[in-house]
Amino acid sequence: GGITTIDPGFKNTGSCESAITFLNGEEGILRYRGYSIEDLAEKASFLEVVYLLIFGELPTEEQLTKFHNDIKEENHVDEDVKKILNGFPKSAHPMGVLASLTSALTAFNPDAVNVDSEEDMYAAIVKLLGKFPVLVAWTMRTKMSKPLDYGDDSLDYVQNLHKMMFSKPNSEYKVDKAIIDAIDKLLILHADHEQNCSTSTVRIVGSSHAGLFASISAGISALWGPLHGGANQAVIEMLEAIKADGGDTKKYMAKAKDKEDPFRLMGFGHRVYKNFDPRAKIIKKAADEVLEQLGVEDEVLAIAKGLEKEALEDDYFVKRKLYPNVDFYSGIIYRALGIPVEMFTVMFAMGRVPGWIAQWREMRLRKEPIGRPRQVYIGETLRAFKPMEER
Ligand code: CMC
Repeated sequence: GGITTIDPGFKNTGSCESAITFLNGEEGILRYRGYSIEDLAEKASFLEVVYLLIFGELPTEEQLTKFHNDIKEENHVDEDVKKILNGFPKSAHPMGVLASLTSALTAFNPDAVNVDSEEDMYAAIVKLLGKFPVLVAWTMRTKMSKPLDYGDDSLDYVQNLHKMMFSKPNSEYKVDKAIIDAIDKLLILHADHEQNCSTSTVRIVGSSHAGLFASISAGISALWGPLHGGANQAVIEMLEAIKADGGDTKKYMAKAKDKEDPFRLMGFGHRVYKNFDPRAKIIKKAADEVLEQLGVEDEVLAIAKGLEKEALEDDYFVKRKLYPNVDFYSGIIYRALGIPVEMFTVMFAMGRVPGWIAQWREMRLRKEPIGRPRQVYIGETLRAFKPMEER
């Protein structure tokens, strides 16, 4: 029989049981495996959080070392991947490139495609965690016409990502600890967010038993949109436009409230958070700290704070419970760290990879059925075929 009710955007439809991330949108609570996001952002390293999300417990020192060593064994990509990378026009958006390269990993690592056992899953997971930072860094360097860097096994996971992105040829690689700490924190804050658009995509693609890399590639494509991860790029572009317009925040507030105008205040609003987004709170504070530590002044930070203040006092935003989300202040930090605007959503993807992996693994271990929503048909009833000359 057909179904009679639908739930567009799945606003009130649960798709699975999950033991990974707890989120309470009314109270602004976010926890990974029971640990508060505030604690993790302050006290854990990104790789510890990766382990926690995927395997459910914080690693012992021994477990973390083994995990990192297994990842290091896989932190190279086939040289032929460079041919694909160089085939893209320089104007290509890094998210499109990253999704394509991640998908291409299936071709270069066929053994990681059909994974059923926990051991095979583990092998595919460390492969992805090893290779993904290389793809991220190479996507950026190729876009900037810079020579590629192959990383350094003696470095910590996040520092190695940073080296591959920012090292200069023929000079010793050095980095301020404040920079690595800031990236670490941002990656942790983005690491999982239960059944959002990209994660649901990963689970649904994976539910057909397509491989891990194909599922993650689909997740990257979903994340790219401006209503989801692409908002971090859109926020900076919006703040820059306001700056260029003489800082007229009122004008943009009016546009955002005008139902005839498609413009939305980017970085505002959330499907689940209706009080505040705990990630945005942490990032706002970090933005102040990082800019001060690095001695960077950015006029758009003041514009962002002004917009937030106005919105929080405005009936339209108050009534609809719209607050700054994770993407509102993150771009200001990325930019202070020297990351190009078009790479912002790639950094979001780098952070979200462990969440996608954990959710994919949970879905497979729980032997969930293939994802296949239903519909209510509203098209034509049966019609007689019309030959071409009668149309
Ligand atoms: N600016 C102006 N009005 C807004 C905004 C906004 N940013 N967000 C929501 N509204 C209005 C919307 O027009 C609607 O008004 P009305 O009830 O009069 O029709 C009401 O608020 C409810 O919005 P909705 O679109 O029904 O809510 P949703 O849950 O479907 O969408 C959202 C959530 C995040 C897509 C949306 O708030 C939005 O487009 N925000 C801007 C883009 C953005 O910042 N995205 C990042 C989300 S957080 C991180 C991530 O997922 O990557």
